[in-house]
Amino acid sequence: MSEGPERPPTPPSSPGEPIGRRALIARLGVGLAGAAMAAPILMSGRSLVPNALYEAPRKVKVGPPDHFADGPTFLKDQRVFVFREGKVFHCLSAVCTHLGCTVQLMRKERTQEVEFHCPCHGSRYRGDGTNYAGPAPRPLDYLRLELAPDDAQLVVDLARTEDKGWRFTL
Ligand code: FES
Repeated sequence: MSEGPERPPTPPSSPGEPIGRRALIARLGVGLAGAAMAAPILMSGRSLVPNALYEAPRKVKVGPPDHFADGPTFLKDQRVFVFREGKVFHCLSAVCTHLGCTVQLMRKERTQEVEFHCPCHGSRYRGDGTNYAGPAPRPLDYLRLELAPDDAQLVVDLARTEDKGWRFTL
């Protein structure tokens, strides 16, 4: 039995020439292998990016100014103290600057002056937020207050600190 005429070897293709079947299959194989190796890398990289953010809102309405009595009011959910003196307000964070426990408002026995005590490691702050005892490295934060433009409620901006002694006047 005789075999047919021997085929000449397929020359490697060069740009502009049609690609032979073997070369095409080889290129597809390399492409698929590359994609198979890249997929897990891309998927593990994607797993580092959260699908949703669960940040608490930074600006929180806390009610009309008239609902605040003169003196300090503790807002448990926001962990702040809102102080009112007539038409003048200010807001102190209740987050201890040591490790973040919630400080408690105390009054000096003789003078009834306001202080803040941290129950965790004993830091103490004066009424203006100045730290004076314990491991707290700095004063309590003053937080920005403003009025909501739509319903005139007092708004605490939990992300915006102000200089010590900052006040908001109606
Ligand atoms: S967290 Fe307040 S003193 Fe440590």
